[in-house]
Amino acid sequence: MTPEDRDQNEGDLAAEAGAEPGERNAVATEMAALRDVLLKADRAYHAEDAPFISDAEYDAKKRQLAALERQFPELASPDSPVSRIGAAPDGRFAKVPHRLPMLSLENGFDEEDIRAFVQRIRSFLSLPAHAPVEMTAEPKIDGLSLSLRYENGLLVHAATRGNGAVGENVTANARTIADIPQRLASPDIPEIVEIRGECYMSHDDFEALNASDAGRSFANPRNAAAGSLRQLDPNVTAARPLRFFAYAWGELSGPLGLTQMQAVARMSEMGFRTNPHMRLCHSVAEMIEVWTGIEQMRATLGYDIDGVVYKVNDLAYQARLGLRSTTPRWAIAHKFPAERAWTRLEGIDIQVGRTGALSPVARLHPLTVGGVVVSNATLHNEDYIAGRSADGRTIRDGKDIRIGDWVEVYRAGDVIPKVADIDLAKRPPGAERYEFPETCPECGSPAIREEGDSVRRCTGGLICPAQAVEKLKHFVSRAAFDIEGLGAKLVEELFRDGWIAEPADIFLLRDRYGPGQLTQLKNREGWGEKSAASLFRAIEEKRHISLARLLFALGIRHLGEVAASDLARHYRDWDALAQAVDRLTPAAEAHRAAETAAEAERAAAARTGRRARVAEARSAVLAESAISISARSAWADLIAVNGIGPVLAMSIAEAFSNERERAAIDRLVSHLDIQPPEAVSSESAVSGLTLVFTGKLEKMTRDEAKARAEALGAHVAGSVSAKTDLLIAGPGAGSKAKKAAELGIRVIDEDEWLAIAQR
Ligand code: IVH
Repeated sequence: MTPEDRDQNEGDLAAEAGAEPGERNAVATEMAALRDVLLKADRAYHAEDAPFISDAEYDAKKRQLAALERQFPELASPDSPVSRIGAAPDGRFAKVPHRLPMLSLENGFDEEDIRAFVQRIRSFLSLPAHAPVEMTAEPKIDGLSLSLRYENGLLVHAATRGNGAVGENVTANARTIADIPQRLASPDIPEIVEIRGECYMSHDDFEALNASDAGRSFANPRNAAAGSLRQLDPNVTAARPLRFFAYAWGELSGPLGLTQMQAVARMSEMGFRTNPHMRLCHSVAEMIEVWTGIEQMRATLGYDIDGVVYKVNDLAYQARLGLRSTTPRWAIAHKFPAERAWTRLEGIDIQVGRTGALSPVARLHPLTVGGVVVSNATLHNEDYIAGRSADGRTIRDGKDIRIGDWVEVYRAGDVIPKVADIDLAKRPPGAERYEFPETCPECGSPAIREEGDSVRRCTGGLICPAQAVEKLKHFVSRAAFDIEGLGAKLVEELFRDGWIAEPADIFLLRDRYGPGQLTQLKNREGWGEKSAASLFRAIEEKRHISLARLLFALGIRHLGEVAASDLARHYRDWDALAQAVDRLTPAAEAHRAAETAAEAERAAAARTGRRARVAEARSAVLAESAISISARSAWADLIAVNGIGPVLAMSIAEAFSNERERAAIDRLVSHLDIQPPEAVSSESAVSGLTLVFTGKLEKMTRDEAKARAEALGAHVAGSVSAKTDLLIAGPGAGSKAKKAAELGIRVIDEDEWLAIAQR
């Protein structure tokens, strides 16, 4: 169906309804209402950079109005937005008439529209039905168009599109954009050259701008680009990272080439950035192929695009085809399904994750965004709902999100949909501020938000069913126990049926539900003798597990795969690790108390505007708590492990000291045969030895030295003890060297160490 057909169909529907005089009035009212919304939308979009309806909704309304105007020409108004391009300039900037109008593009939405477009071109040019027509295809950038006029190679003025005939003079601002040359680069440049293209902001720059104090929060990169370009103070524009792609031209005193491809190559030679994804196509099939490819890149391009623009490549054909009132006959925009759309927020659900985090999820009246039906979107955390960022700054101009609100949903590529904005004008009367729960909706335990944490967490630990099942899913995941045949879905079912409540239960499944038992796995739906047997076999295999995988599988907060394997290499066996963690727990508790004091100090200082004495607050608490030497040295030893900082150390201590969790871990371990990490190198001179580094190293960093030592199979400790085999002492070595001497430990210098390390 071509856009015209589509309009026609909508028009037919309206015509059926509008034959009688009474109904004519209704049509007139409807048309006035459509005009009103479209004019307001135009103004909001072009002049105020604050759109209030989605592009898709706008397009639909415009098509509807155009159809009605065709059916009822006598009811069409001279100020109809159908025949206008954008909003008139708003008066803050000087006006610039465009010598050649800045055009808009016809839109196509599916392959049929594109076929019809190519067919229209063939018939207009009276080319044979199957004669190939070369077409260029390039991303349609979602920014704002600019026209740059160069006289004798020098930039003389820059103008926005405005209403297509008259734009705004934004020359001073355009001069601050790095992608816009002040002087054209290549030789033989026509005396007059007007280059047109799109000014936009990249995703990264947009995020950074919205996160910085300078930017008020813009709803999307297009608004941010428009708002930044239309600043009265060019210094403000200069501080905003705007970019520019050249793709078209206005007045020229000499040609840029014979084809679109050549002209774009010429613009690139002149010093403009042109889009690297532009391609030449020879058939509709190729055009669609490029469109599909570009759509697949959409999420990773780093800037917003909303479709692909096809243009007739031959400039002589373009000249013959010419223009309609606001659009060229030789180009069309093949739009992507909209990534943003508005809908009603029907409720807020709270999901509880593996570490107890309460995540608010928007329950939406289902809508299509980016071609996919969406009924849930993330609301991030309680601050996001309240209109604040995690560090207390205002987002969405401070608008909070309430159940019943009209919300804008954003979905890019495979990114989880999120609620981007809300429309206060459409808030239902009586909608109340959302109260974030302070107890866990799954288990009723208090949900607490610690100082400095952006999320509220359930304190129920393993008694919380949601945490328990998420922990189990993590336990069987690929990087953890990776049990073949035991995926997230089966774990959920077995948990629901009470077959497994904690990891240890997995290793008891066969005894409880295997052959010879009353309830048998093979009796479960979808299970047979064979599949049950192979699941039991897969579980048996995983009784032998590496220490690193086990540690990762425990799902301790902040403990990722890398840190787990560092820990495994450092402690080498389970008992050594468990004993060390048990010893350091009092130190970890003291450090946590110190962190709480530090946060409180930070907050108090921020309130009164004085300098925060964070270090003092921390050390006051540490000094007061009587930590045994043994705890202190176990703590120091853990912190010394590559990649393990105080936050992770506290988290590990917490997991091991929580009675319930510890009992579950011990039950699990009793079923396992834990494999020590493979000796990285058993040949090396230091393999199996415990080393300590002290003083200043001059030829490698401490981290490098440690990594090298571990790769050679050594164990690196943070403090000297009777177990230390070798101390590597650089200049400035103090108490550790002294202690080593007392204990009769061998001490070497950095050069000697290098001789060993490089062997
Ligand atoms: S060509 C006559 N190419 O889309 C040709 N336009 O919806 C003028 N746009 O006003 C436009 N990327 O602001 C063209 N690669 C591209 C484009 C592009 C974005 C914008 C441009 C135009 C609007 C029409």
